[in-house]
Amino acid sequence: MEIGVFIPIGNNGWLISKSAPQYMPSFELNKTIVQKAEHYGLDFALSMIKLRGFGGETEFWDHNLESFTLMSALAAVTDRIKLFASTPILTLPPAIVARMATTIDSVAPGRFGINIVTGWAPNEYSQMGLWPGEEHFGKRYDHATEYVQVMRDLWADGVSNFKGSYYEMDDCVLSPQPAAGSVPIVAAGQSKNGMKFAAEMADFNFILGAGINTPTAITEATANLMREADTAGRDMGAMTLFMVIADETDEAAQAKWQDYHDNADLAALGYMADQSATDTNADDSSTAKTISLPEGAVNFNMGTLVGSYETVARMLDEIAAVDGIKGIMLTFDDFVEGIENFGTRIQPLMKCRAKIRPEAA
Ligand SMILES: Cc1cc2nc3c(=O)[nH]c(=O)nc-3n(C[C@H](O)[C@H](O)[C@H](O)COP(=O)(O)O)c2cc1C
Repeated sequence: MEIGVFIPIGNNGWLISKSAPQYMPSFELNKTIVQKAEHYGLDFALSMIKLRGFGGETEFWDHNLESFTLMSALAAVTDRIKLFASTPILTLPPAIVARMATTIDSVAPGRFGINIVTGWAPNEYSQMGLWPGEEHFGKRYDHATEYVQVMRDLWADGVSNFKGSYYEMDDCVLSPQPAAGSVPIVAAGQSKNGMKFAAEMADFNFILGAGINTPTAITEATANLMREADTAGRDMGAMTLFMVIADETDEAAQAKWQDYHDNADLAALGYMADQSATDTNADDSSTAKTISLPEGAVNFNMGTLVGSYETVARMLDEIAAVDGIKGIMLTFDDFVEGIENFGTRIQPLMKCRAKIRPEAA
């Protein structure tokens, strides 16, 4: 079972709360987190791309670094951990991103991959004149399919003559190519179309965990993804995303969670709900639908594990036992302390990580 960390490239991580730790994103912070993660044997780190925040008192995500340039720098200061950057497909042409990936692969051979972001918040793109209009919601996975195809052609053959609705390549070349002839692709679609895209084109898809202390709530969505992968005849895997709020006792962790919840930044949450409501194509499993309950979304509606180190370790083992799940990506209220506690207090109790030993100091 792989374990990863969703690093805080935006301010305050994933807690939209006035009482959660308030911090700015920086290279130094993310370097500390990723080097600690590597030290404790974590398998990967992923950064998102977010181009406009939600405001509110906490200025939630109004402060965000850029994903590829951050991961390139982190590639240079790590040795083993895999690193994923996120591409917002509406803003960066695939031939450029294929070359950026080859560059990072040259910094960290075999350790770099790409998360495909189709975009769900129109304001991120309309602010730069790059929002194609509401029809994008219905077509975004067709667009993403062409995007990945162009990159794969370039990585494998060094040339692309792909002709589609979104891209027309004319003897487009790429050299050098990545050492392995390709770069892993991950996606995070929750809707039916999103899962179909991931099943056909990605190596992994993230299933968004749901609820508080309901680790196996991902079972049905994971089975749906596995069915799509069967239909596509591809061997791809599911990863999942959970927030960890841990402390010495269940009571202490619950008290922290309650405090974050009671101090939700409602203005920022309202903005997020408004942006996601613009997707009129959304089906019931779409992120746009699950994000629409402002006061409940203080944790970004992310599946959250609240409890003592023992309780959290047990729930992580339950997640690992869900059919199809190959990895769990974690967020924390305080990432530096969280990774440290994960490495020293939680991971040693996890059956699915019994073979992992931290690096010798
Ligand atoms: C692990 C993970 C990473 C994500 N990264 C980003 C990101 O970098 N930028 C972004 O705008 N959305 C990101 N998202 C949101 C997904 O791209 C979102 O689920 C998708 O746009 C909605 O697709 P759906 O309608 O198929 O659920 C991420 C979601 C997950 C679970």
